[in-house]
Amino acid sequence: MEKIAVDPDFYSIATGFGTDPQDFQSETTSIASSIARGRLENGRRYQATKEDDYWGPSDEQQFEAFEIGHMVFLVLDFNQPNPLFRAPIGDSPKHILDIGTGQGSWAIDVADRYPSATVRGVDIFPPPVSWMPPNCVFEVDDVLREWTWRDSFDFIHIRLLYGAFPPEGWDQLYKQAYDALEPGGWIEQMEFDVRVSSDDGTLKKEHQLWEWGPMFIRCAERAGRSLNIHETMRSAIEKTGFVELHEEKYKIPLGPWPKDKLLKEVGHLQDAHWNAALEGWAMWLLTHFGEPEPWTKEEVQVFLAKVRIELKDPHIHAYNPAHRVWARNPTMDELEAKEVTFKAETSP
Ligand SMILES: C[S@@+](CC[C@H](N)C(=O)[O-])C[C@H]1O[C@@H](n2cnc3c(N)ncnc32)[C@H](O)[C@@H]1O
Repeated sequence: MEKIAVDPDFYSIATGFGTDPQDFQSETTSIASSIARGRLENGRRYQATKEDDYWGPSDEQQFEAFEIGHMVFLVLDFNQPNPLFRAPIGDSPKHILDIGTGQGSWAIDVADRYPSATVRGVDIFPPPVSWMPPNCVFEVDDVLREWTWRDSFDFIHIRLLYGAFPPEGWDQLYKQAYDALEPGGWIEQMEFDVRVSSDDGTLKKEHQLWEWGPMFIRCAERAGRSLNIHETMRSAIEKTGFVELHEEKYKIPLGPWPKDKLLKEVGHLQDAHWNAALEGWAMWLLTHFGEPEPWTKEEVQVFLAKVRIELKDPHIHAYNPAHRVWARNPTMDELEAKEVTFKAETSP
């Protein structure tokens, strides 16, 4: 991938990007209260829908991070005809599913853009929304449980579910998506690479950010749920039977150091995203699977304070890679043609 040119005039990180926390909790009253209360650990709230843990918190601070992350992706693809996704689903889809919808922002924006569609967002924690378009529905469920939706989907979307499932869980999820999509329907997935890099050597071995990605990848391996989904999703999606695979790789600058105006804005947002998300990304993985042994909450906080100092350092031109894949379910004609070929090859 091309190097991102550094703005030579850049010397300080602007502060004060809109990160006012909001209280989203008041509107979840219709959800069973134990699910909405979640489980508290180290000052953060986690889902209580399913027994095995998911590493990320579901609380106001993390929802704020999801919202900023959503904006990062929108600005990153600002020059695309549709910044929400790339799959060519046409102008009048009927049924769309967003798996692990989080704060629900993607599902809401897609429902606004496609009034013809019912857009379902599913998550193990109730999305903290006070208003949604009439064609947007949120449901609380574990997506690895049997799917009971009656209508087939035109489009299934997954974003940032890294570290959520063991390998067999991913295989099951893609199979469920394959079976639930219309022939010719699309799946799309966008994932971060948690490793931080720089092209000009400004990120150095002595920085905490240098080891950030490899350390969390090892923690997640010990948890049995890889963070490296950006590396495996393409082949896993292809193995399931999807066809016409496309992919796009991105470099997401961490801080407003790029010369390019759009990337500068992305970097600004990504800096705010990191600052809001940091503790939620780190706390569970380090206190359960940290090395050489699980860390205390205080150790995590001391580490994160050092990371925050590096995030403010304008001399580090760091970025996170990200990866998007989109692919199509075979059409009936393609399936029939495949069957004919198979029969011809296997008949005596
Ligand atoms: C990192 S967040 C990403 C949220 C959203 N997709 C976005 O891009 O902003 C991952 C979400 O997946 C949800 N999740 C994790 N495991 C899940 C499961 N088994 N079923 C449904 N949702 C799940 C989490 O609760 C969390 O909200």
